[in-house]
Amino acid sequence: MTADRAAGFRDRYGPWAVVAGASAGLGEAFARALAARGLNVLLAARRPAALDALAQALRAEHGVEVRARALDLAEPGAAEALAGAAEDLEVGLLVHVAAASAIGPFLDRPLEAHLSVLDVNARGPLVLCHRLGGAMARRGRGGLLLVTSLAGGQGNPWLASYAATKAFEIVLAEGLWAELAPRGVDVLACRAGATDTPGFAASRPRAAVPLMAPGAVVAEALDALSRRRGPVLVAGRLNRLAAFLFTRLLPRRAAVRVMERATRRLYEEPGP
Ligand SMILES: NC(=O)c1ccc[n+]([C@@H]2O[C@H](COP(=O)([O-])OP(=O)(O)OC[C@H]3O[C@@H](n4cnc5c(N)ncnc54)[C@H](OP(=O)(O)O)[C@@H]3O)[C@@H](O)[C@H]2O)c1
Repeated sequence: MTADRAAGFRDRYGPWAVVAGASAGLGEAFARALAARGLNVLLAARRPAALDALAQALRAEHGVEVRARALDLAEPGAAEALAGAAEDLEVGLLVHVAAASAIGPFLDRPLEAHLSVLDVNARGPLVLCHRLGGAMARRGRGGLLLVTSLAGGQGNPWLASYAATKAFEIVLAEGLWAELAPRGVDVLACRAGATDTPGFAASRPRAAVPLMAPGAVVAEALDALSRRRGPVLVAGRLNRLAAFLFTRLLPRRAAVRVMERATRRLYEEPGP
């Protein structure tokens, strides 16, 4: 990116960005890309050591200010606490990346696991968009970027609660995109497909699938945000093709069945 474009980005979305879910994977890649554009970043995730290491690296590599806030966004009041930690900062960009999932048959997973999915993936972004978006709208500039998933396009057996919350993020972003555009706030839902992150590896997939590099997803998302290509970006050509197939070509029932087969192939233990 040229120095001019980085400065333009900083003027629109700086001086501070909040990255919720910043210690690894796509969140870490967002934090690195934003610091490279000269934004100060407030990093949030559960693991303090990983956040501190990233904070030190960003300060050393890019000369930006970095704050780290360790919290569990599944806990009651955590999203509000994160917004509180940003209260004395001029936040021009929220990137919400953190997510929880409960993989497997819906009824076999404890209700608490599904409720955590709801808290991290739906309640959290809602609270943060409301709390941080208000100041952006008053200032007349800013951005809200929600990282969601291809899974949010239709029901997904074996990932039912996760897919439902990912749909929530897409629809929330669409509504806010139209509502906040006249107030100078750009909104984007970035639908990622399978991406090479620690989170994807930790889900222990049993089959190989094509993976995108986190940096490629982030570059597309930040480009789409700043070119005001919202409300929804599907990152990656293959994923765009898949999204077209699932949401435009296949009947809804067939799309759900295909997602079921693909998810069980990835996660089901082979039978005896
Ligand atoms: N990777 C994929 O294949 C893929 C595909 C589609 C969509 N996505 C979406 O992309 C986003 C990021 O996924 P990823 O693969 O980069 O995940 P990841 O590697 O697991 O990273 C998730 C980040 O969120 C933080 N986090 C998770 N739960 C949290 C909690 N309860 N409270 C605070 N922070 C929390 C994690 O840090 P701590 O562990 O330190 O808390 C980490 O920094 C998610 O929204 C996901 O739905 C990913």
